[in-house]
Amino acid sequence: MSEFVNSKFVKKISEITYQSYDHGWDERNGGNVSLRIDEADLADYADVKEVKKTIDLGFDARALAGQYFLVTGTGRYFRNVINQPKLDLGLVRITADGQKADLMWGFEDGGLPTSEFPSHLMSHIERLKVDQNQRVVMHCHPTNLIALSFTQDLDEAQISRLLWKMQAESLVVFPEGIGVIPYMTPGTTEIGKATAAKMQDFRVVMWPHHGIFGAGTSLDETFGLIETVEKAATIYSQIGAQGGQIKQAITDDQLRALAKAFHVVANPDFL
Ligand code: 13P
Ligand code: ZN
Repeated sequence: MSEFVNSKFVKKISEITYQSYDHGWDERNGGNVSLRIDEADLADYADVKEVKKTIDLGFDARALAGQYFLVTGTGRYFRNVINQPKLDLGLVRITADGQKADLMWGFEDGGLPTSEFPSHLMSHIERLKVDQNQRVVMHCHPTNLIALSFTQDLDEAQISRLLWKMQAESLVVFPEGIGVIPYMTPGTTEIGKATAAKMQDFRVVMWPHHGIFGAGTSLDETFGLIETVEKAATIYSQIGAQGGQIKQAITDDQLRALAKAFHVVANPDFL
């Protein structure tokens, strides 16, 4: 039997949190990640079989009863996870009544799941309805996307189209566009509900003046999604830095040709 700390799950989430920090998206304790793991994939690890303690969730997560999540701790620094995974990560299992989470591994110095865990779980619930392979929710603070929330109307169609037109890759990676919610207080069930409602149609939701919520089937895919959105926002910032004058740009027809060539369906409300 192996130790869970040496599993591919802990290794990958530790890499991703460090890389996200390294990109400048996770100052201090900014950002959080949760990864849904099948019980069968935990069979080899003897150290995840006992409940260490039980944690209140503060909302009804019954739709996820019995599911396991590897999640970052509240107040923990993404920069550090790679060096102290047993302290900064926890493996939890949602209880049968959906009100609590049993801690099976990690958070060894008394840590608790991220303050955004209700928002993560609500997003997992909605994404699972549209994609059975849904596994990851990732929140972070990408600088250029946050900047965009000050200079643009908080309009999904406008922001999605702007990001699509910043690089040929955007439409291919997020053809549905990006969801946008109003500014709301972090860590509340209200922001969780608003985010999850957007997750019915989008895998990426902008939190104005704060950051981004992304969802996907793997850590790599979700990271790549956020990376692509932030790259597009960075190009927009750089256009501003070069004087802001646009001489030529990707047209709507060129976006349609892109969608056709890459066999994706662009959100018909936006294009
Ligand atoms: P946590 O430290 O609770 O994960 O919060 C970080 C954050 O980014 C809140 O939005
Ligand atoms: Zn945040």
